[in-house]
Amino acid sequence: AMLRPRSKRLAGRHALVTAGPTREPLDPVRYISNHSSGKQGYAIAAALAAEGARVTLVSGPVSLRAPEGVDLVKVETARDMLKACEDALPADIFVSVAAVADWRPVKAADKKLKLKGEGKSPAIELTENPDILRTLSHKKKKRPALVIGFAAETHDLERHAQEKLARKGCDWIVANDVSGDVMGGLENEIALITKDGIDRWPRMAKEEVSARLAQKVSEALGRDRDG
Ligand code: CTP
Ligand code: CA
Repeated sequence: AMLRPRSKRLAGRHALVTAGPTREPLDPVRYISNHSSGKQGYAIAAALAAEGARVTLVSGPVSLRAPEGVDLVKVETARDMLKACEDALPADIFVSVAAVADWRPVKAADKKLKLKGEGKSPAIELTENPDILRTLSHKKKKRPALVIGFAAETHDLERHAQEKLARKGCDWIVANDVSGDVMGGLENEIALITKDGIDRWPRMAKEEVSARLAQKVSEALGRDRDG
C-alpha cells in the first residue's frame, strides 16, 4: 500500500465542522445565545486541515480568524447553520462543536420592541431549534462516515455523554466538563466516548485536544480505507 506522510492521512477527505454559538433574534437588536468562544471548534478545523482534509467550517458569530486553508461559512441562527451544513454535504467527517441555541423566539419582531413605558416585560414564546448533529447523524443518504458530537456538561459528565451518544446517533462523543474554568479559556479536559468505551484525556491546550482528535480521526478513517 502507498504510505502517506503521517501528517496528511486525511488527504482527499472532506471534513465539516461547526463552531461558535448561534444567535436567535428577538428583534433587530436583541437575541438569545449561548456562551462559546469558538476556540475549540476552530482549533479542530485547523487540526483536520493539517492532516490534509479539505475543511468546511460553519461558524456562528465569534471573534476569531478562519484558520489557514479552511473554508469558512458564517451563519447566525441554528436554522442557517443546519442549511449551511446540508449544503456542504457530502462530507466524510462531521464534527459538531457549535453551542447551538436549543430554542428560538417564535417570532422575531421586525422593529425594536418598545414596552418599557408601559411598565411591561415581554413574554417570550420559544420553540425548539432543529438538532443539527442529530439530523446529520440520521441522514439516509449522505451520512458522513464518522460523526462526532460534543457534550458540554456541568455534572454527571459521562452518564449524560453516553446518553447523548445514543440519542444523537453519532459515532463518538467528546465529553467536556464545563463546571470549572474551561469556557472561553485556552485549555480543555475531555473524555472521548465511543462504542468501545471511555478514554479520559488529561487537561491540555485546546490545540492539543484538537491534534489528538484529528489523529484519532485519521486512524479510524485510515483503517476504513486500507482495510
Ligand atoms: N447540537 C446540535 N444542534 C442542536 C443542539 C445541539 O447540533 N440544536 C449538538 C452540539 O453541537 C453538540 C451536541 O449536539 O455536538 C450536544 O449538544 P448539547 O447542547 O450538549 O446537547 P442537547 O441535546 O442540546 O442537550 P442539553 O443542552 O439539554 O444538554
Ligand atoms: Ca443544548
